[in-house]
Amino acid sequence: MIDAKEYLKKMSAELDGPIKSYIGDEEPKVLMDASKQYPYAGGKRMRPAMAVACCRAVGGNGSKAVPLAVAVEYIHNFTLIHDDLMDEDEKRRGMTTIHVGYGPATAILAGDALFAKAFQIIADLDIPSEKMRAVLQYVTKAVWDLARGQQMDINNEGNIVSEEVYLETIKLKTSVLFAAAAAGGAIVGGATPEQVKAINEYAIELGLGFQMYDDYLGVAGDSSKTGKSVGNDIRKGKCTCMVTHTISVLKDQKLLDEFKSILGNMDATDEQCARARQIMEDAGSIQYNLDLAKKKVENAISKISFLPESEDKEFMIALAKYAVDRDV
Ligand code: IPE
Ligand code: IPE
Ligand code: MG
Ligand code: MG
Repeated sequence: MIDAKEYLKKMSAELDGPIKSYIGDEEPKVLMDASKQYPYAGGKRMRPAMAVACCRAVGGNGSKAVPLAVAVEYIHNFTLIHDDLMDEDEKRRGMTTIHVGYGPATAILAGDALFAKAFQIIADLDIPSEKMRAVLQYVTKAVWDLARGQQMDINNEGNIVSEEVYLETIKLKTSVLFAAAAAGGAIVGGATPEQVKAINEYAIELGLGFQMYDDYLGVAGDSSKTGKSVGNDIRKGKCTCMVTHTISVLKDQKLLDEFKSILGNMDATDEQCARARQIMEDAGSIQYNLDLAKKKVENAISKISFLPESEDKEFMIALAKYAVDRDV
């Protein structure tokens, strides 16, 4: 059985060089520094690893998918910079976020710069033009959908939306980029249309489980491990699955009022956030979220069952399990 965390480390060792090779010493230096911070800081590198693994799992040469892997990581990092600005978060990958360290104007530009660089890197893919077109369709659609999902996430702040709307939001803000990495990698590797479709669906389901688990880490994780602030989703009033569930099952009006008074209160103390977490825990909402996340991952794994057995397929399965069983 493959250990996803170890395998990711191994793949990161191969991908970090290419990821760091695209930003040089141009001027203005402050923009280069801001743009470099997240790509250089690392992170789990799940999306680029997925692109390479999916390429190989359909019989392709993994090195051919490296530019796509790097491009997807750049897009991911671009969205993280803008996401931190939108979410007013101060910590990412154990460091001060870009808008806090460099100001919002430079954070917007650093995100834009990484976004542009991603497409320059995709142009380096050594694939025939019809495959290039298919890859571009996946990647551009992903970024478009991601913007829609991020707007929905912001619209949902301070509101209680249904589980259905929550799932659509996270599909758009998170799953689609995993899907672009996975389906794009498969296309580069010469996958059949059926394989591309299945791998796309695998990544969509994995992404749902991943984001649900990310939401869990956002309230119950250890900030020294995740490298991100914990509790801010509660302060911001983010409508996670846990929140929706608590609101729908909690019958005790006093408790409900207490919960609602903490949710969306930017001045809530750490103790109050811990109290909100306890209320969700007692309502069974944390377990509900974890169970549903695990179900999504089981769906993900079932989508790729027909792929031929290989180490890369095993990694894809291990990665799906890791998405909902991690402390980082
Ligand atoms: C964080 O993604 C953003 C979400 C979609 C939840 P990751 O958890 O993959 O972040 P890094 O790349 O490991 O830092
Ligand atoms: C991140 O969503 C999704 C994108 C960056 C598009 P979140 O805001 O929920 O993730 P974290 O917790 O800040 O990483
Ligand atoms: Mg965020
Ligand atoms: Mg966000």
